[in-house]
Parts: sequence; structure tokens; C-alpha cells
Amino acid sequence: MTTTSGCPVAHGAPDDAHGVHQGYQPFEQRDPFPAYARLRDHEPVFYDERTGYWVVSRYDDVRAAFSDWETFSSENAQRPVTPRSAAAQQILDDGGFTAYSGLSARQPPTHTRIRKSASAAFTPRRFKALEPQIETHVRQLIQDVRGAGRPADLVPLFTNQLPVMTILSLLGLDVQHSVASFKRWSESRSAMTWGHLTDEEQVPHAHGLVEYWQACLDLVATAHRDDPDSLVGDLVRAQRDDPDAALDDHEIASVCYSLLFAGHETTTTLLGNAIRLLLTHRDQWDRLIADPSLAPGAIEESLRYSPSIVAWRRLAKKDGEIAGVKIPDGSEVLLLIGAANRDPSRFEDPDTYDITRANAREHLAFGYGIHYCLGNKLAKMQSATALRELATSMPDLRLDVDPDTIEFPDSISMRAPVAVPVTW
Ligand code: HEM
Repeated sequence: MTTTSGCPVAHGAPDDAHGVHQGYQPFEQRDPFPAYARLRDHEPVFYDERTGYWVVSRYDDVRAAFSDWETFSSENAQRPVTPRSAAAQQILDDGGFTAYSGLSARQPPTHTRIRKSASAAFTPRRFKALEPQIETHVRQLIQDVRGAGRPADLVPLFTNQLPVMTILSLLGLDVQHSVASFKRWSESRSAMTWGHLTDEEQVPHAHGLVEYWQACLDLVATAHRDDPDSLVGDLVRAQRDDPDAALDDHEIASVCYSLLFAGHETTTTLLGNAIRLLLTHRDQWDRLIADPSLAPGAIEESLRYSPSIVAWRRLAKKDGEIAGVKIPDGSEVLLLIGAANRDPSRFEDPDTYDITRANAREHLAFGYGIHYCLGNKLAKMQSATALRELATSMPDLRLDVDPDTIEFPDSISMRAPVAVPVTW
């Protein structure tokens, strides 16, 4: 091990061609995979003085850290990466913005209690009822794509629409009127949490967050008044039946705040990535056309190969150790899901995109342990439905750009294509 000046810790041998961090740039998402591979090989756990995070890249280490919630807590998972500007904070305070996290940054025993109630509201009956609605939405969106004419960008027309329609249906909101607002507010939430905004850029997003939180509070108030047959209605009824055990109104609004974001941003990204990858790897698209029942496998492989969330944070609550490296109490840790999912020690030939890969499901795209994604089944079901319908009804679909030119906005965690231009 050699010590690099400026860093408090020892680094693996720097790769001269790529610099001390093997070319890893925390916010750049265009193509992080070559740097991930070098990190796994040379610096599997390193302190990144640019961000203040300990960065972890090997599969076993990432999974072990996710599993050990007592040492590596998720309480920093939703904290803004870039500190909030005074002007943005003022807007949030004036707007009564008290949301933080419904689940992902909460800890046991509160996390256990809220997760139990939220999971109970995800009943098989509700889930089953959604399936035909999802199919209807997919078919309608495919018609919209055709109607828009060639070439078309699938992000605004398709991938941005379906997941938000699904989550609004689940929460009992009006799909026709609410899609654009929730999409805009979610973009604000993503940018304000994981983005790299200037003080000025934060201002409109702060207004977006205030509106978003108010909509969640309104949703709970409406559920008390109208007693709807929806997930929010279930949570409100549970509170009436057992006020001590169930969630209070702020907690229900926080769960809505979580679901209305987690429920679509990442699924939008998954759809964009899956379609982009299939159309880039034409042989795989042809396999899907020949056998649409391969759609669930294509979704698992897309989550492995190009996860929506490439990095997720943890906070050391006591002295810990990852792969023999001491992680002091109070350290912030960045788990590189995107690197873990291409670790050759777990996935054979990891840079090959293969929709029939036998162990693709072992990816860490949904995290691992007590915070394992609550909506994973819903995300997979709607995405597989979308792929199946696209492959069946638009087999001649193809990318209308060089895939290497597709942009991914700066973010430390999210890797989302801005556009998926296609023709047919
Ligand atoms: C492709 C789509 C999705 C991806 C890649 C994804 C990914 C993740 C990840 C990485 C976590 C954190 C796990 C951890 O900290 O260990 C998470 C948590 C969570 N996800 Fe998802 N998610 C997706 C879709 C959804 C959907 C559709 C919903 C809701 C309907 C949802 C709801 C949640 C919730 C509530 C949590 C927090 C769980 C907890 O802390 O107990 N997600 N997800």
C-alpha cells in the first residue's frame, strides 16, 4: 500500500493513466464502469477526500455493509449531498416543509414499525388489481408513441409516464391530472438530495419540495374525509382501528412522500435503461421478440448491468471494518452498487449483457437487508409488462442515436438516461 498525499488513508497503487482514484468521478455518470473495474481491482475500499465518503466497490463488501445496519446505518441516505443554500432553506421553512424520509433513512424500532404497516398496505389484492391497469396504461402509451410519429423520445412519452401512473393508481390519486406535477416535484427531490446544484439552482426546486410535501399532507387529509379504497385509505383506517400501533398522520404523509418518489423515479430509469440496452444489444432484443416470456429476465439483467441507483449511502455508527480497512465511527460510506453488480467474483463475464443470465437476480440494485426495496415486485412487474408489450407490438423498434451519445445528468447516486430516441 502507498499513501497518497492529501488523503488520511492508505491507497492501493495509483493507476498512472487514471490518477489516484482510478479515474472514478463521483458525480459523472456517462460511463463509470471502467473506473469501477479499476477500483475493484486496486482500491476496493478507499477514502475519497473530494466527497468525504469511504467508497466500497466489491460485491461481497457492499452486500456485507448493507446487511450490517447496526454498524452502517442508513440514516444519511436522504441527506442532501450538496448543503442547502440559505435561500432554499428559508423557502422550505416558510412552506412548513418537515418531510424527511418515510422509511429508507429511518432506523429500528421506528423503521420496523412503519415498514410493517406500509408492507401490510401492499396487499396482494391491491397488487393484483393494479396489473390490468398497468396493461391498459402500457397499451395507451404505446399508442401515444406511435401517434407522436418517428423518431420519438421514449423518455417523455413512455418511461416518464408509466411508473408515475402506476404509483398514483396505487395511492388512489387521479392519474390524468397528477402525472406532470408529481414528475416535476420528484425531479426537485432528486436534484435537491443527490444533485450538484448551485445556490441559485436550488431555489425553484425548494418551491417544488414545498408543493410536493403539501400534496402528501392533503392526500392524508382527503383519506380521512373520503375513506377511499386505496393504500392511503388502508393506512388511515388502520390508524382509526389501533391508534397506538398504527402510523400517525405525519408518518402516513411521509410514507406517501417516500412512495411517490421511490415508486417511479427509479422505475423510469430502469425502463429507459432496459430499452436502451436491449436496442443496443440487438441479439438480445431479437431473443425477447422470439420469446416475450424472457421479459422478467431482461429486467433482472438490466438492473444488474445498469442499475438505476449506482451508489447508496450509509453512516458508521461505531468503529467498523470493510475488507480489512478500518472505518471509524461517524464515517460516511458510499456503496457502489453499480460496481458490485459487475464484480467478476459473483457474475461470470460481468460486462456481457445477457437476458438469460442464470444468477442476474443476485444483483444489489434494490439494496440488501432490512431496507431492501419495498417496491421491488411492483417495479419488476410493470417493467416486464412494458417490455413484453413493446417487443410484441413494436418489434422493429430501434435506437435513433448512437447509444454512446446518450447523456446521464450529474448525480452521486442516480444514473438516468435523459433521452431514449427511437424509430421504427
Ligand atoms: C427499478 C426500480 C427501483 C429501484 C432500483 C429501487 C431501489 C431501491 C434501493 C437501492 C433502496 C434502498 C435499499 C437499502 O437502503 O438497503 C430502496 C428502498 C426503497 N424502495 Fe425502491 N427501488 C425501485 C422501485 C421502487 C418502487 C416501485 C417502490 C414503491 C412502490 C419503492 C419503494 C421503496 C421504499 C419504500 C424503500 C425504503 C425501504 C426501507 O427502508 O425499508 N421502490 N429501493
